[in-house]
Amino acid sequence: MSQITELKFMREFIGVCAEGYRLGWHERNGGNLSYRMSAEDVASAKEFLQDGAPWQDIGTEVPGLKNEYFLVTGSGKHMRNVPLCPEENICIVKVDESGTKFQIQWGLVAGGRPTSELPTHLMNHEIKKQLTGGKYRVIYHAHPGNLIALTFVLPLEDKAFTHELWEMATENPVVFPQGIGIVPWMVPGGRDIAIATSKLMYKYDVAVWAHHGLFCAGPTFDDTFGLMNTVEKAAEICVKVKSMGGKCQTIPEKGFVQLAKDFNIELNQGFLNC
Ligand code: 13P
Ligand code: ZN
Repeated sequence: MSQITELKFMREFIGVCAEGYRLGWHERNGGNLSYRMSAEDVASAKEFLQDGAPWQDIGTEVPGLKNEYFLVTGSGKHMRNVPLCPEENICIVKVDESGTKFQIQWGLVAGGRPTSELPTHLMNHEIKKQLTGGKYRVIYHAHPGNLIALTFVLPLEDKAFTHELWEMATENPVVFPQGIGIVPWMVPGGRDIAIATSKLMYKYDVAVWAHHGLFCAGPTFDDTFGLMNTVEKAAEICVKVKSMGGKCQTIPEKGFVQLAKDFNIELNQGFLNC
């Protein structure tokens, strides 16, 4: 391999950054992305990785991720620039044996550090890794406009928010059957919001940050990006419906039950009204 950016996981990661930017979810440095590399990914990238950079505090503890490698966007870096110059805007970090420190082993060649939301990304990864037996590998944070707008209008409550977005397209409950969790407005970038978000990750793959954006988790780049895209599309339809004066009719409550049965999905029963 002559270039690390030719590796499949790199190409897919860069593709998500580019597509998210194209869709308007990443103004300036808004949003961030992380990927927990597999042993094969690490082996394929090994010739490009370097030990020796200083170990830095993560800002929280993730013992369940000791010695894992992550590809992650840089703090203050613009998603728009990721495909133009990956080595300046993203990096590979290794978590230490204690799960409290990281070391940059590739990337950010012009300086910088991983995203300020690294505590949230890693705490979410730790929980999803444990819950899914290692299947989940991607955590994605974006600032999609319609979703953010809805956090000023819908009740900031998991059931109400989820049900409203389930109603906005028939296949939405199939894409996020467990629903959406809401983190009330908090200062971003630290351990407190990481704890609040990761608690929701025990139950959901989607967590809203009120008046800020969205976190999605998934096994692959396609699943995680597709989830973000589906939730934002639901939010867009909701904004249109509200702007047209509100619903005149909607999916019948029993329709959700029928859908779950026919699509063989485990719909969050607590979020139904029947
Ligand atoms: P970073 O540039 O540090 O990734 O922050 C962007 C962001 O969206 C913070 O929530
Ligand atoms: Zn953000």
